[in-house]
Amino acid sequence: MFEQLEMAPTDPILGLSAAFKSNSNPEKINLGVGVYQDGSGQTPILDSVKTAEERVLANEKSKSYLSIEGSPEYGIAVRKLLLGPEHEILSSERAVTVQSPGGTGALRIAGDFLARHYGDRPIWLSEPTWANHPKIFQAAGLQVETYPYFDAETNGLNESALLTALAKIPEGHTVLLHGCCHNPTGVDPSPACWGQIADIIAERNLLPLVDFAYQGLGDGFREDAVGLEALSRPGCELLIASSFSKNFGLYKERVGALTLVGADRDTAAKAMSHLKVAVRTSYSNPPAHGSAIVSEILGDEALSAQWEGEVAQMRKRINDMRVELVRGLKAKGIEHNFSFIEQQRGMFSFSGLGAEQVEALRGKYAIYIVSGGRINVAGLTSANLDYFCESVAAVL
Ligand code: LMR
Repeated sequence: MFEQLEMAPTDPILGLSAAFKSNSNPEKINLGVGVYQDGSGQTPILDSVKTAEERVLANEKSKSYLSIEGSPEYGIAVRKLLLGPEHEILSSERAVTVQSPGGTGALRIAGDFLARHYGDRPIWLSEPTWANHPKIFQAAGLQVETYPYFDAETNGLNESALLTALAKIPEGHTVLLHGCCHNPTGVDPSPACWGQIADIIAERNLLPLVDFAYQGLGDGFREDAVGLEALSRPGCELLIASSFSKNFGLYKERVGALTLVGADRDTAAKAMSHLKVAVRTSYSNPPAHGSAIVSEILGDEALSAQWEGEVAQMRKRINDMRVELVRGLKAKGIEHNFSFIEQQRGMFSFSGLGAEQVEALRGKYAIYIVSGGRINVAGLTSANLDYFCESVAAVL
């Protein structure tokens, strides 16, 4: 049976990590997968996470299953972080949360839910978007369409094309929006533009699915939620796929959530019953360890403050590296103006490097970046920056 199979293509992001590992060049740099590295090139376990983990292990009494939707305290903590503790959506109890294995798990549950109940309607993705987005929704059985987003001339947002395209999407369709730190471009709408996006979404009765994987790594927790806040209007309905891989550094623990906001409490409860069906027929119920760490931190004022400080340090290092990168490229005599990299936010920068240059960086210099030119700025350090800039100058 299996002999007839063709090899499947390697994953465009995680496949790079495997290729990087097997490369013996001592100067190799992995700027592919979106994983934070500190100034010494390590992906650290946060101190707040270590403390919380010790408490969780000391207090854990059983390894029995969680419920299908996961831990209720975790759901409450997730919703407060997303929307702020005082939001009307929380007081009117019209948001429900299922704990998911990472943000990817949340997206897949959203896809399964949408395909089962609204399968005749496509989901609209930005062009470009995270390479896994179309695959997740197609695997769930949804048709995928795209709307324009990035302007290659300015290396910024193509605001007019974006707004014009959104205004033409048929009523009732789902639109995936990156809550902040757009993956792969690092280019986000301004607060004013988010207001216009939210107006169109409301007027055309579109369903927003907000992929919110980088909260806190752009400009700050509330600052990064400005788009989500614009969408969270009275009576609105939306889906939010969030992740704690990046802002808690809990990558391999697979901790995420799908939050559904319904027009009212009863609607949300009904929808929740269907999300539970989607979970049960996919992974049954979620893993507990990572979510227990998150609940422990978010439920403790002192630990929360420590964690926020650690996220602020990560954010600062990434934004500082953006400045260093622009400076470093200029110092190598490159005439091309890369100053747009300083305006982008989150781990990623859409560098403008083309397919040939990406290939040459990999083949000649053992530097791994995602095809399309996405660089993980959080993988740059003062130890590898010079080699990176020199290699970019060479391939340009
Ligand atoms: C990325 O875009 O690099 C991250 O979201 C990790 C992944 O799973 O692709």
